[in-house]
Amino acid sequence: MPSRYSVIQAVVVGYAVGVGYAHSTSTFQWPNAQLSYVDKQLWEGFLPGLVAQCAPRGNTTAYHDMSTHNVDDGSGGLDASIQFELDRAQNIGQGMIESLNDFSGFEIVAPMFGMADLIALGAIFAVAGCGGPLIPFRAGRVDATEAGPPNVPEPQQDLATHTEMFRQMGFNDTEMIALVACGHTIGGVTQVDFPTIVMDPEDSFVGFDTTTAFDNTIISQYLQNTTEDVLVVGPNVTTRSDFRIFSSDGNATMQSLLNPGTFTQTCADLIERMINTVPNGVSLTDPFSEPFDYVVSEPVFSYRNGTLAMVTTLRVLNPSVNATVTLLWADREGSFCPSTGCSVESFGTQPVTFRLTELGIYLGFTAERYEFNATINVATSISKFWFEINNNDGSDPITVDNGGGGFVIEQDSLFFDNGRTVAVSLTPSFEEFFRLVIAVRGDTTATVSMTAFDPRPTAFSPPSFPVITTVDLILDETNPPDNGFVFFTGNASITTNFISLTATSGGTTYTQTNFDMSATNFSLVEVSA
Ligand code: HEM
Ligand SMILES: *[C@@H]1O[C@H](CO)[C@@H](O)[C@H](O)[C@H]1NC(C)=O
Ligand SMILES: *[C@@H]1O[C@H](CO)[C@@H](O)[C@H](O)[C@H]1NC(C)=O
Ligand SMILES: *[C@@H]1O[C@H](CO)[C@@H](O)[C@H](O)[C@H]1NC(C)=O
Ligand SMILES: *[C@@H]1O[C@H](CO)[C@@H](O)[C@H](O)[C@H]1NC(C)=O
Ligand SMILES: *[C@@H]1O[C@H](CO)[C@@H](O)[C@H](O)[C@H]1NC(C)=O
Ligand SMILES: *[C@@H]1O[C@H](CO)[C@@H](O)[C@H](O)[C@H]1NC(C)=O
Ligand SMILES: *[C@@H]1O[C@H](CO)[C@@H](O)[C@H](O)[C@H]1NC(C)=O
Ligand SMILES: *[C@@H]1O[C@H](CO)[C@@H](O)[C@H](O)[C@H]1NC(C)=O
Ligand SMILES: *[C@@H]1O[C@H](CO)[C@@H](O)[C@H](O)[C@H]1NC(C)=O
Ligand SMILES: *[C@@H]1O[C@H](CO)[C@@H](O)[C@H](O)[C@H]1NC(C)=O
Repeated sequence: MPSRYSVIQAVVVGYAVGVGYAHSTSTFQWPNAQLSYVDKQLWEGFLPGLVAQCAPRGNTTAYHDMSTHNVDDGSGGLDASIQFELDRAQNIGQGMIESLNDFSGFEIVAPMFGMADLIALGAIFAVAGCGGPLIPFRAGRVDATEAGPPNVPEPQQDLATHTEMFRQMGFNDTEMIALVACGHTIGGVTQVDFPTIVMDPEDSFVGFDTTTAFDNTIISQYLQNTTEDVLVVGPNVTTRSDFRIFSSDGNATMQSLLNPGTFTQTCADLIERMINTVPNGVSLTDPFSEPFDYVVSEPVFSYRNGTLAMVTTLRVLNPSVNATVTLLWADREGSFCPSTGCSVESFGTQPVTFRLTELGIYLGFTAERYEFNATINVATSISKFWFEINNNDGSDPITVDNGGGGFVIEQDSLFFDNGRTVAVSLTPSFEEFFRLVIAVRGDTTATVSMTAFDPRPTAFSPPSFPVITTVDLILDETNPPDNGFVFFTGNASITTNFISLTATSGGTTYTQTNFDMSATNFSLVEVSA
């Protein structure tokens, strides 16, 4: 018997070969905080570790959430309204609460990536982690702020009721059969939650089929009349909803899904449609089918002694082993830098790990992140930057310039100062927070406000929400004015992942939106209270 993991690998690799991750140049117009963030979570995030080897998490959540969609009026859909619907009988189950807790507990939500996107991504990883297809992810769902209409099918309802519910969700009769079969290829029924379905208290959990993998065993066992699916053969005839649905077209759809390729492709299409079912008016990004060729990390500035240090990285897909990568920039005046730009070569590289390997998915790419630290004259400053990749093999250097315009630094009058910010640990309480320092060009009449986004959940059980705090910053006495800069300070929770800043200085308002704190790096300073 092959191990469960190798079975999963075989299925996924088979699928990957069939579909093909043909590589083509893919990029996006920087800055785009949403695309940058999704690229990171999708290809490099740690969420796959949660569902690797078909770990029991996140099984039903996406389906139950989107079940509140109504095609007739366009309301509902995958919008995380499930958070407000857990008191409904249809959403019963510790598994649902565990899944949502997992999702919120990992502090992945962000201003441009809410709980609904996270549930959708979790569903994609769960399917892939059980050996199913890798369904393309699209981002942009909008989180609900209240419960949706009650519309989750329950097993004791009759076929006509289910047919009408699926029609309202946008699926016809054939699609209903396939979607239920695709959903019930993993997981099963928990006795404590459904004692009228699993009547023997000795059976704490009864799987829908005898494999945990995302495969068509659910189909073959049903057609061979050997199924253990309690929604087909359970002692309570009233709750045999899978039987009523699967046999509703004389088993024709189930017969067609007996072909493993048909099963995988049908499930991929239907589950993709399911997770992309969103309320009218919500538009999703294009699918993320592969990592972007070049991804620039948030440029992080520090001011010291007449110079600005700008630290950033460039992730390069499939780099040549001998490549040298140079960062070039133009000043804001055209007086200091030569027309070819000021430049600095990367000072190091970090290997990039595509975490989908934990799900048995090998994209066939490698990547390196090249690190840069540019020393910029503070008077002439920087207006934009770009990169040159020289493979040192006689070929022409490759210019990475954001489609021609360069990576533009919109304004240099308001920035988060990495060199002056510290993570503070109060002793003996061990309370930790960021002591943020913000630099502003101007004098002490300037004002700054900050909005900090803390993804850490507010509660141990759903609904839980990120904490968004807006504060006015105060002049920082420990960092006196220097060379035309004034420094402001404020505290933020240690799990803050994005901050937005607004400053008014000399009658002009400057903003920095969704600065990515994960690009920063501070020393921990212990302070005794
Ligand atoms: C008429 C439609 C459906 C009914 C009546 C139904 C009913 C149920 C019931 C009663 C359970 C047991 C839940 C528990 O013990 O916590 C279950 C589990 C599950 N359902 Fe459905 N379901 C339907 C459609 C779907 C669809 C369309 C999907 C996804 C595409 C889906 C995915 C799942 C999964 C993954 C589980 C396993 C949960 C686990 O093991 O924790 N179901 N379903
Ligand atoms: C459902 O839609 C699919 C795809 O459009 C189609 O092939 C199928 O025949 C439809 N089934 C029914 C019962 O209308
Ligand atoms: C989800 O499915 C897996 C695999 O079939 C099962 O072992 C597990 O108990 C389910 N998870 C939950 C939370 O019910
Ligand atoms: C069968 O399930 C239905 C719906 O949950 C319930 O009302 C009924 O009591 C169950 N029958 C038995 C014999 O437990
Ligand atoms: C299917 O199996 C059940 C018992 O598990 C039996 O009662 C029934 O007659 C079988 N049906 C067919 C068509 O073989
Ligand atoms: C469909 O398949 C099931 C399971 O083998 C069987 O019990 C049922 O009689 C079949 N229905 C039809 C209409 O063939
Ligand atoms: C800043 O410049 C002063 C005077 O040139 C020098 O003493 C000091 O070490 C410099 N500080 C840093 C951090 O480079
Ligand atoms: C990299 O440089 C080494 C040493 O010059 C050379 O032997 C090798 O062929 C180069 N590799 C590539 C891929 O250009
Ligand atoms: C970048 O260079 C500055 C000096 O210009 C230095 O203070 C800072 O630590 C450097 N940052 C990194 C990440 O190397
Ligand atoms: C930040 O927190 C520390 C410790 O509680 C406090 O002393 C300080 O005044 C706070 N700073 C601001 C700007 O609120
Ligand atoms: C973190 O900062 C230190 C200087 O304090 C620097 O040496 C190191 O390279 C930085 N790491 C990153 C990833 O920026």
